Amino acid sequence: MDHTSYETVDLLGFTEENRYKFLTGSVVPRPIALVTSQNDEGVLNAAPFSQFVILCVTPPLLGIVAQTRTTGYKDTVRNILRSGQFVINVVSENMAEQVQQCAVEYPSTVSEVEEVGFSTLPSVTVLPKRIKESPLQFECRLHEHHEFGTEGSPTTMLVGEVVLVHCAEGVREGHRVNHDALRPLGRIAGRSYCRTQDTLSV
Ligand SMILES: Cc1cc2nc3c(=O)[nH]c(=O)nc-3n(C[C@H](O)[C@H](O)[C@H](O)COP(=O)(O)O)c2cc1C
Repeated sequence: MDHTSYETVDLLGFTEENRYKFLTGSVVPRPIALVTSQNDEGVLNAAPFSQFVILCVTPPLLGIVAQTRTTGYKDTVRNILRSGQFVINVVSENMAEQVQQCAVEYPSTVSEVEEVGFSTLPSVTVLPKRIKESPLQFECRLHEHHEFGTEGSPTTMLVGEVVLVHCAEGVREGHRVNHDALRPLGRIAGRSYCRTQDTLSV
């Protein structure tokens, strides 16, 4: 499209909530990391994070970013800072409804995994289990973390080193990933998601 005019936007003119909506509505679509972690009592927590990025190839580092609630850290952040272990379960389109449901604010004594009816598989190198419905899972150990933002509303980036990957049958073809088998789900905004079947080659 040929754009004929632009308006300038001062992000600081928005409330924090609207700034978040504008930024996440502009950086689209985003892949989704369904992160499983566990607390000292062994409750398996699952939460989706679409602020999700490859930070380094060697060592393989993946980053997720979590906003802080007015009541403090999200369970995922608290669990990972304490245990240093988590799993990033890649989200496929058939997981959409349950993933959306995992973002409901359950108390930390409740496992979202059980609430939404996901099945689990044991991990090999970390304590938190993997989600069986996910086609590809990264077992991660906390490499480092960073805090951004202001004291009142800090944002935490958790960097995980991938120690082991699990691929469901048909997902891996040598060093390549078969996206017809992965069928990844992307987040657009709010309850709006996208699939990746409509691709183009250039
Ligand atoms: C698809 C999707 C993506 C999300 N991405 C993020 C994100 O990147 N960062 C964040 O702080 N919250 C994100 N959320 C909200 C969290 O998942 C939600 O706050 C969740 O309840 C946190 O769970 P926890 O307290 O068990 O860690 C997302 C929600 C959905 C549905």
